[in-house]
Amino acid sequence: MTIANVTVLGTGVLGIQIAFQTAFKGIPVVAYDIGPEAISRAKASIDRLAARYHEAVAGADAASIAAARARLTFTTDLKAAAAKADLVIEAIPERLDLKRRVFADLNRVAPAKTIFATNSSTLLPRSIADATGRPDRFLALHFANEIWTHNIAEVMGHAGTSPRTLKEVVTFARAIGMEPIEIQKEKSGYVLNSLLMPLLAAAAELYVDGIADPAAVDRTWRIATGAPAGPFEVYDAIGLETAYNIALMAGPRQQRFARILKENFIDKGHLGMATGKGFYEYPVAPAAAPQSSDVTPDDRDARQGSSSPGRAARRSPPLPARAATSSPRATA
Ligand SMILES: NC(=O)c1ccc[n+]([C@@H]2O[C@H](COP(=O)([O-])OP(=O)(O)OC[C@H]3O[C@@H](n4cnc5c(N)ncnc54)[C@H](O)[C@@H]3O)[C@@H](O)[C@H]2O)c1
Repeated sequence: MTIANVTVLGTGVLGIQIAFQTAFKGIPVVAYDIGPEAISRAKASIDRLAARYHEAVAGADAASIAAARARLTFTTDLKAAAAKADLVIEAIPERLDLKRRVFADLNRVAPAKTIFATNSSTLLPRSIADATGRPDRFLALHFANEIWTHNIAEVMGHAGTSPRTLKEVVTFARAIGMEPIEIQKEKSGYVLNSLLMPLLAAAAELYVDGIADPAAVDRTWRIATGAPAGPFEVYDAIGLETAYNIALMAGPRQQRFARILKENFIDKGHLGMATGKGFYEYPVAPAAAPQSSDVTPDDRDARQGSSSPGRAARRSPPLPARAATSSPRATA
């Protein structure tokens, strides 16, 4: 089967990127979310993404971006979202119960041929497979944040995923400009997060234990390794709600970090780069951003600073950690 129509469930940080990248590569996409507010946020994200593509992606001129927008439709109706899908990619919050429920609902309305994929960062496909009602056509397809430049797609089945499904999804990943990474055995975190999560967890623990503040941790990592961003800049790029959900599932020090994330950031609407503030502050493009053809060199400069964590932090020096956060000792 050629994957000619794609549906993305969840239009948050990653879902909207997957939807836009797929549309940009010529495939019609239906983007589904739970309500009109989420859809409005998604449409504003598309404006920001269009500006990012214009700056950073070869061939992303006004015409190709307009064509990508035209291939993208939005809905809050799951049945309509699934009706023509060859592949549904789920990118909803990282909660097993929620994902299982949504896949079970989806199974009732999607055509039998449709392949289901989860973009989960940490959950194993086998923990969801039975809920999909089609375990042979279910697998994980995991993208990295800022997929237009960090263009890997980790493809990981469970024991019951058919070889044909794996092959079709690898072909699809290539067709949308990804470098497919085929994972040989189920592993929570795939390759990328098996490497990244221990780093992020260690950074969180340096912070909650009061050893070093986020700016010092990030500066150390950037200068000593040459990496473009430190762990707290990565947290801001990932989004603090996702970071919170992951920290909640771990041990006591991670739970303290989760509490700090909730009380000092999430409850105040500071969700990281997407909202303009997390551990650092970022310029945010206005919701009604100009079409990419109208972007001026000055606009481009400002938006460039708003996107890549490393660049953002260097262009406008990060707030001293305590200006953007409360001391962990005061809150934990
Ligand atoms: N953020 C990252 O860097 C990143 C990277 C790779 C994978 N992921 C994974 O992608 C998934 C989504 O993460 P995110 O950071 O984009 O989350 P997010 O919180 O930014 O977005 C989640 C979206 O799902 C929507 N949603 C909530 N309930 C829903 C439902 N029942 N049906 C449909 N949509 C619903 C929300 O309205 C929101 O738009 C998670 O599984 C996460 O592990 C995230």
